[in-house]
Amino acid sequence: MRLMEVILASKRGFCFGVEDAIELAQNTIESNPTGEVIALGPVIHNKQVVHQLQTEGLDQSGDLEEIPAGHTLLIRSHGAPPEIHDRAEQRNLNVVDATCILVKKAQNVVRKLHEEGYQVIMIGDRQHPEVIGVIGYAPDVIVIDSEEEIDEVLPHRGKLGIVAQTTHAPEHVADMIGAICARPFREIKIVNTLCLEVIRRQEAAVELCRDVEVMFVLGGLHSANTRELARLCVDQGMITFHLETWDDFRSDMVAGKRVAGVTAGASTPDSVINHFVENLKRAQPASV
Ligand code: F3S
Repeated sequence: MRLMEVILASKRGFCFGVEDAIELAQNTIESNPTGEVIALGPVIHNKQVVHQLQTEGLDQSGDLEEIPAGHTLLIRSHGAPPEIHDRAEQRNLNVVDATCILVKKAQNVVRKLHEEGYQVIMIGDRQHPEVIGVIGYAPDVIVIDSEEEIDEVLPHRGKLGIVAQTTHAPEHVADMIGAICARPFREIKIVNTLCLEVIRRQEAAVELCRDVEVMFVLGGLHSANTRELARLCVDQGMITFHLETWDDFRSDMVAGKRVAGVTAGASTPDSVINHFVENLKRAQPASV
């Protein structure tokens, strides 16, 4: 009986920003033994970690106005717009800020570009909490994510200041910037806000695609960096499955395959990766 050969990406799983956010959440829970620590939305985009933190005592709310005065508000790793910090202060909440330092950097860059007179452009997903937070640091930031959307920027022919969502792939950002440069903008200032932790995971995943027959990308279905990893693997022509945990696995996913690759987004804990790999190694590839 031949079992699956499983190869792990050389860079995968938790980044320092996620580790710091979880540690800060746990320390905050510990120093508030009577409860009353509430995160505004999931601290990171991983259900298993969020559930674990909930069992340790972290509550979650989608609405700042529902959090009673005097409680502790945990700002998640994706950050929040400045009006959330202001409203929290007005409501007399004790704010603990778990925003990743690289997201904070992007927030500061956006503010500075605006102060310097640039029309700020953010290349990113306008629905993503990081983007929603970052664009709050300057008025009228324009968010674009495809070349078709660049024409929306055309009325602003003066000075453009460009940043990108930290988890975007450099190739996509480079394509966007190339397309912007091909239009009649007078001055363009680009500040690199991409996260190297994400880039290293993307490079490792692409490298691994050369040695395997099927790829498993583990992580939250809403996690932008995990989705980007899966998209890159698909771009390599690889059969790719983006799964949250081993529970989502089906044996037909490895039908006729002998060598599988595994990688994981920056918010996926080692426990999920290890459990998946151990089970996958024992999986019987179904016949085609
Ligand atoms: Fe921060 Fe990069 Fe992780 S932006 S949260 S270190 S993926």
